[in-house]
Amino acid sequence: MSRLIINGLKRLNGSAKVQGSKNSSLPILSAAVLCSGESVIHNCPDLSDVRAAINILRFVGCKVEFSGGTLVCDSSNIRSCHIPDSLMREMRSSILFLGALLARLGEAEMCLPGGCEIGPRPIDLHLKALEELGADIRDDHGVFRCTVPNGLHGGKIALSFPSVGATENAMICASLADGTTIISNAAREPEITDLADFLNSCGANVYGAGDGTIVVDGVSRLHGTSHTIIPDRIAAATWLSCAAATAGRITLHDVIPSHLAAVTALLEDCGCTVYTAGTSMTVNCPRRINAPGVVRTMPYPGFPTDAQAPIMSMAAVSRGTSLFIENIFENRYHHVNGLLRMGANIKVEGRAAVVQGVPLLHGAQVSALDLRGAAALITAALAAEGTTVINGLLYLDRGYESPEEVLSRLGADVKRV
Ligand code: UD1
Repeated sequence: MSRLIINGLKRLNGSAKVQGSKNSSLPILSAAVLCSGESVIHNCPDLSDVRAAINILRFVGCKVEFSGGTLVCDSSNIRSCHIPDSLMREMRSSILFLGALLARLGEAEMCLPGGCEIGPRPIDLHLKALEELGADIRDDHGVFRCTVPNGLHGGKIALSFPSVGATENAMICASLADGTTIISNAAREPEITDLADFLNSCGANVYGAGDGTIVVDGVSRLHGTSHTIIPDRIAAATWLSCAAATAGRITLHDVIPSHLAAVTALLEDCGCTVYTAGTSMTVNCPRRINAPGVVRTMPYPGFPTDAQAPIMSMAAVSRGTSLFIENIFENRYHHVNGLLRMGANIKVEGRAAVVQGVPLLHGAQVSALDLRGAAALITAALAAEGTTVINGLLYLDRGYESPEEVLSRLGADVKRV
């Protein structure tokens, strides 16, 4: 079992490139199943979740090569509509193959997906959306057997919550349905727009991504394409949190600043200065930041739930008190126990967490229990006196590409053993 050893209290200073987006790569890899041909996907991060998606692609019959950040997927011969349980349980996003396989083969069979334990993560919105497009879905003791008895057709999908995954599943499936689909109360995350750009470059007709209403005019066939994944705004937010927690000054390359607006506005409220120039962003942080005040996680363009954990570690060493309200997931404070071990002053009550900033954290042995919780422990370790040992790196590796290399480039004392 590998672990990270971090010697804290080094002011981050330097520049680094931000990886391609995990949350764009996974739906785009699922959507590649729709293409009768070869898709070339650039800027694809090398993550265990991406490797899990590649295993599914290969299982259903795609030829996949992945090296140097470029993934080539030939989906000419899709031969399996079934995904084994072991592959489904690797990650939550495997559910996106349901819409993709239904659209490509007219049938799909799989169990519930896995993923980080951050509260109940039902798939009711995914299933309802696909049923609206003509899918017949039977739950056979936890195995979903899905067919399209009368073919897929356009439909009106009104999401009761702007679920990112359900919006993506609906877009993917509707792209090969007969007729027009309207998805209202759709998620507006940048990764939705990236998926639409990918689908459209394969010959789909997806309009309005990034707005609350998405219209998909189905086509009978999609072809291969070449696409570059957008930068990972959550990885960027993580490195910015690390800089703010260590009075750092860092420059990140390959960011889309508008995707980070909610995060940079918060950092500015804390006393940091943020400069942007094209796709680069520099943040210069004071010796001790002010508390961020109230942090409410919301669907995009609100403050992202995925950045809540590292920003909480930053708040843990800020001057003042902050209130966090987690509105997206029910159980997303797993990192708090680790932060308490390191000397933080945090009280959790349901979806709320009150963080009273302390001048200094101290190193400890801690374990990550989910992906962004791992990012929170790293942020705290960088701001802590002494050595922190972080276990549970399998979570970290789901979403961060070579994090110790990025942090070393930014001046941190970190190694994986
Ligand atoms: C995606 C992101 C994840 C991010 C989340 C919210 C990927 C691979 N993951 O996850 O990093 O934290 O968006 O921005 O892109 N829900 C239901 N029923 C459903 C679907 C969702 O009740 O059928 C609930 C969930 O339990 C959760 C909320 O809706 O409470 C948000 O989930 P959703 O937007 O679907 O997140 P994911 O797509 O799983």
